[in-house]
This record gives sequence, structure tokens and C-alpha cells, in this order.
Amino acid sequence: MKEILDAILNPESTSADFAAVKLPESYRAITLHKDEQEMFAGIPSRDKDPRKSLHLDEIAVPQLGPGEALVAVMASSVNYNTVWSSIFEPVSTFGFLERYGRLSAETARHDQPFHVLGSDLAGVVLRTGPGVHAWKPGDQVVAHCLSVELESADGHNDTMLDPEQRIWGFETNYGGLAEIALVKSNQLMPKPKHLTWEEAASPGLVNSTAYRQLVSRNGAGMKQGDNVLIWGASGGLGSYATQYALAGGATPICVVSSPEKAKICQDMGAEAIIDRNAEGYRFWKDEQNQDPREWKRFGAKIRELTGGEDVDIVFEHPGRETFGASVYVTRKGGTVVTCASTSGYMHQYDNRYLWMSLKRIVGSHFANYREAWEANRLIAKGKIHPTLSKTYTLAETGQAALDVHHNKHQGKVGVLCLSPEEGLGVTDPELRAKHLPAINRFRGE
Ligand SMILES: NC(=O)c1ccc[n+]([C@@H]2O[C@H](COP(=O)([O-])OP(=O)(O)OC[C@H]3O[C@@H](n4cnc5c(N)ncnc54)[C@H](OP(=O)(O)O)[C@@H]3O)[C@@H](O)[C@H]2O)c1
Repeated sequence: MKEILDAILNPESTSADFAAVKLPESYRAITLHKDEQEMFAGIPSRDKDPRKSLHLDEIAVPQLGPGEALVAVMASSVNYNTVWSSIFEPVSTFGFLERYGRLSAETARHDQPFHVLGSDLAGVVLRTGPGVHAWKPGDQVVAHCLSVELESADGHNDTMLDPEQRIWGFETNYGGLAEIALVKSNQLMPKPKHLTWEEAASPGLVNSTAYRQLVSRNGAGMKQGDNVLIWGASGGLGSYATQYALAGGATPICVVSSPEKAKICQDMGAEAIIDRNAEGYRFWKDEQNQDPREWKRFGAKIRELTGGEDVDIVFEHPGRETFGASVYVTRKGGTVVTCASTSGYMHQYDNRYLWMSLKRIVGSHFANYREAWEANRLIAKGKIHPTLSKTYTLAETGQAALDVHHNKHQGKVGVLCLSPEEGLGVTDPELRAKHLPAINRFRGE
């Protein structure tokens, strides 16, 4: 591994140098163990501790198949799917690997007694499989997490509609929280040159998801002037949704849970901010019943901030706890666009407010190949910025996942894999200098 790292750290290294580097037989990776998938049975979600389920193991380098690449991972990030995987909720990810493994001889490699997690990476291509011509050893890349087979026509217009659509490093093995990762070459995209490895690794999953959910016509199709209510506006998804709203001429109404998070939204340029803790909303009276008076109180607060207007779009992901309120506060003809259910997936809302006011609920999930590419292009151009707040070592991934699980983080949490320290990997210092305050916005004091 030292030879690989030396080649990456040497700016003179050529593609031929990388092609000549000997691949190790094994590498360090963050894994779950199949024989531990019942370890948290009966424990409340909040008390399930990712530090107990996530292991740092030595894994054999997988065989490279057609259309694939092996990438030396300099940095990765923690996503909420890392949390879901590590607490085995809503289901154990080993079921995904078994199902994928049944598809073909190639995919059988993914069905292992361990699961290497991680749906983001920034690094350097080491090897490419047969049929890969667009990438070569030595290319500096980031990877998005859409894994598709594309053998069915269903996904030919929108690759997210492929019947074999999976999220790499969540529903497939050999993810990015490791020193080496296995990806399909179509996941690869150029690394934004003005960013460090850990900054470049952090937007991937959430940035692409927010792009489809809010900007793409496959999602809410946001336009100039729209009022956009953004739940968790300083979190992983929300920190990108807020930037997209501002960059696209819309008005974000940011919901957060602390003055520190409100300050970050303000720093991004948002003016309408609601601290849900300070306001003390109680959308649910008890386990079964919601309180429409609280929806109204929330709606009144939004109108106070918008000069009397309602929201055109609600950027939804908390799910059960907020969904009734989200449907209620959306303007007539508006859109609730949802990609998740962090607080519970059995949603309840008053349908009269939906149909009588001709509102739409749109489901959105990650992003297709093209959307992921466009989202990365905006990062590379310095129009949308990473929201990295803190970086951990690979060995500390369990702690990083616990912080995200307990909502103690801001924006995105990074993980150094091969990179020996933060701050490496910038090859366009001029562009970086231009955007430095925005790049560091989530870093805190
Ligand atoms: N479908 C997809 O492709 C996709 C992609 C990415 C993420 N996701 C899912 O989306 C969800 C959020 O992901 P993320 O990366 O943004 O996570 P995150 O970084 O934890 O941010 C989510 C934010 O939502 C807010 N929130 C959490 N629970 C809430 C509740 N009960 N009521 C109101 N607000 C709440 C919190 O902000 P405040 O405390 O400041 O309000 C939190 O910081 C996760 O469930 C994740 O699995 C789905």
C-alpha cells in the first residue's frame, strides 16, 4: 500500500507508473460482519452503537470484472446509509448482498460474510477492467454511488429506473470506506481540482440526491422565485438543497434545530430560518394522532418569514414526524418531494389538503448517471461547495457514524482512508483561493 500512496503523493507520477505499481493482496476496510447482524435485537434505535458493529478489517482485493475499476481511496465520507447499515435498520444489508449475488457469476463476488460499506470516494484509479476506455490508471476521480446493470430497457431513459438499480457500498459490497474500492467505471467522475481529497469525497451521495430531488425535472423541478422549505437545512442533504435554492434564484426557508445550525444557514446566504427546537413544534399529540393546530402554527411562521406566501416546494426527508405538516404548509399546486423517512416510514397526512389544493407528492431517490455528473460538475466549477465539517481517520469511522446517528454533526463528516493527513490533493489553487471561505463554511471556528 505504501508504494501506491507514494505514487499518489508524487506529483510527477504518470499513468504508466500507476499501471506498474504492484497491487497488494489485501487492504484495510470498514466492515460489518454477517454473524453479528442480530447483535442489536431488542435495543432501541438510538442506543444501537455503530462503534460496536463497524470493524476495521483486512480484506482480500476483489477480482476486477468487465466495465469495472479498482480505485485507491484517499478519502470517503459517512452518509446516513452508513448509520442505517451499522444499526441493521430497517433491514440488514446482508440481504441486499445475497440478492445481488444471485444475479450472475460476477455479482456473486459481493455476497460475502463481510460488507465493506461506504458510498462516496475520492481517489486514484489503479486498474480498469476489460471494456473500460474512458479511464486509466492514475486518473484522479470521485465516484457516485449508482450501480446499475442496464440490461433492461426500463432504465434506458433514466438510469435510476433500472430494475437492478443499487446504491454502491450499501446494497453492494467493496464500498468507499476502505483503502481500495471496486466500482463500475460509469460511476467515475473527474475529481474537482480545487478541493482536497476529503472535501472532494464529501458531496457525492447527498449532492447528487439533492440535485435530482430539488432541481431536476425528475424531482421538484425548482424554478426562480420558488419558496422552498428545507428540513434539516444544515445537514447532509439540506446543506446542498439550501445551496441549490440560493444558486437557482429560489428562496430557501431553512428548518434547523439549534442556533449554531441557524448561523450556518445564514452564512450560506439564507435569510428565512426556523429553529424547530426554539419554536417547540409538537406535530404529534401522541403515537397515533397529529395536531393540526401545530401545522397551522408552523405555516404561520413560514408566512411571517416570506411576507405572507406559502411554499412551492417542501424538501422532505424526516418522514413520519414532519410529513403531515409538510403536506399542510405546501401552497396550492405545490410539491412535496421526499427521498427518505428518517423518523419513520409509515407517514400520515390529511389527504383533503392534498387533493383539494391539487398538491403533488413526488418520490425521489439518489440520481441518475447524468444528474450525478451534472451535480459533480457544479462542484468542480465552484458553484456549489462541499459542506465538510469534520474529518475522522478510517479507524474512527464508528465514532463518526455515531455522531451522525445522534445528529451531533453539521453538513458532512469526512473519513481519511489512504490520505495521511487533511489538506492534500489540491491541483487548482487559484480556483480554491477564490472560494476558500465558502469551502470552509462548515468547519466551525
Ligand atoms: N433516497 C436517497 O437517495 C437518499 C440520499 C441521501 C440521504 N437519504 C436519507 O435522507 C435522510 C437524511 O440524510 P442526511 O444525509 O441529510 O442526514 P443528516 O446529515 O443527519 O441530516 C438530516 C437532518 O434532518 C433533520 N432531522 C432529523 N430528524 C428530524 C425530525 N424528526 N424532524 C425534523 N428534522 C429532522 C436534522 O436537522 P435539524 O436537527 O437541524 O433540524 C438533521 O440534521 C436519511 O434518512 C438518509 O438515509 C436518502
